Amino acid sequence: MLGRPTLCAATSLTLVVAAFSVGCAGPADQGGSSGQGSTDTSRTASPVMAQRIEDNSPFKVGPDVPSFTVPGTTYETLSSEDNKDRYAVRWPMIPGATALNKSVGDFAKEKLASYQKKDQQQEYGGFAQMHINGEIVGAAAQVAAVRVTSSIPRGAKGVGLHNTFYGDAGGSWVSPSHDLIDQGRRSEFVKTVLDTSAAKSGNPAPPIPSSVDLLLTDVTVTDNGGLRVVVDEGVVGGVGEPVISAEMSAETAAPFLSERGKSVVQALTSKAPYGGQATATATPSPSSTAPRPTPSTQNVDCAVKKCVALTFDDGPGPYTDKLIQDLTSAQVPATFFMVGRSAQAHPDVVKRVSEAGMVIANHTWDHRDLAQMDSGQVNWEINSTSKKLTEITGKPVNLLRPPYGSYGPEVKQAGAPIILWDVDTEDWKNRNVAVTTKRAVSQAKAGSIILLHDVHPTTVQSVPGIIAQLKEKGFTFVTIPQLLGQMKNGGVYFSKNE
Ligand code: NI
Repeated sequence: MLGRPTLCAATSLTLVVAAFSVGCAGPADQGGSSGQGSTDTSRTASPVMAQRIEDNSPFKVGPDVPSFTVPGTTYETLSSEDNKDRYAVRWPMIPGATALNKSVGDFAKEKLASYQKKDQQQEYGGFAQMHINGEIVGAAAQVAAVRVTSSIPRGAKGVGLHNTFYGDAGGSWVSPSHDLIDQGRRSEFVKTVLDTSAAKSGNPAPPIPSSVDLLLTDVTVTDNGGLRVVVDEGVVGGVGEPVISAEMSAETAAPFLSERGKSVVQALTSKAPYGGQATATATPSPSSTAPRPTPSTQNVDCAVKKCVALTFDDGPGPYTDKLIQDLTSAQVPATFFMVGRSAQAHPDVVKRVSEAGMVIANHTWDHRDLAQMDSGQVNWEINSTSKKLTEITGKPVNLLRPPYGSYGPEVKQAGAPIILWDVDTEDWKNRNVAVTTKRAVSQAKAGSIILLHDVHPTTVQSVPGIIAQLKEKGFTFVTIPQLLGQMKNGGVYFSKNE
């Protein structure tokens, strides 16, 4: 079974779901709780303007909460490529906001770990996936806010849970949403929320539960200095009860604010740059000296040469620039299957990958299982990503790698060649340089496609060794278009030969 993908999952309803990892044993025994991968937490915040970003995801639950990018922010990613243990977790590392970054990361990792402890089949009827996304929902003066949406989709629909956290640009404090409301007035505040929502919907307000903090996990500040409160489905009145949302004006909200709440609202409505009032120093920008582009477009005859294609999924991430340096200095071209949402957050990195001569390809907008979606959702996931990548690089994107290697008929009809792999390093699982290197080098054969993930520091560290050892074995590195030549839309490719 060396190298050849094993087909081991079968059908779910009418959708064909296939798994292509090496070995399809039970859920992987790892939780992203290793504390792995936090970087750049020591950087201080230089004043930068947060910019509002577009988010038209069809998977949003509840009212629209605008999200922002903050220059200098990187995103940590934990995602699986295992069809039996599906998850995609992502959260921002905002410059200087070390306490906030750590709390949000710990929260996301705990959620993931508790999901992985459960018996998926019994708990969710199988084919569930954990999806956690942290977005910046405010950053100005000395305050930043991150809203974490966690969902376990089953089929096309899922229940979303929201938790918003606040922290300062100096890294000295972090607060969950309920801290914004004065402790002695939280019951009254919750009553106002429920009444406001009831007045809007015409339904009677539900009784106020005793633990009101559970209703205050998602309090965000509106542009006008008011508060927006979302109470997730099932939190009041049991499962199936809809999302409750209420927006209140600055005047209505003001009497309920704690001291922390007052300073948060003041900062986020100040329109000051994030990190402002701190000593202004220029944001260090990555070296602008253009490296020699890697020869990724030249003709290589893989019928004669022993070709191999390195592919990197789930980025761009905090380690992608380092990887590009290593690939460029080794003159090795590669193919990057990027997540649209991360590309949107890091257009500068995407641009550098493209300018270094690498091929940029589509890994969907937010790493969900395409096989569980209807065709409208599938097309949105693919098209919004290609559009964003093309907007950044100026180049067309025509290769698709579905997350988890999972696809149904809708994906095949989406109009792109489907690029899978025959060498699975399981780098996302082992997070070990020696193991990742060994798996890549020992399984590669002429025409192989090697699966790696540039969101893990251990993977990026393993690349120079992988390149050196494969070169020693006589391999020539190529991109996917160089390896496969003319491809068919809807065709499924594991390697040059399969
Ligand atoms: Ni992936």
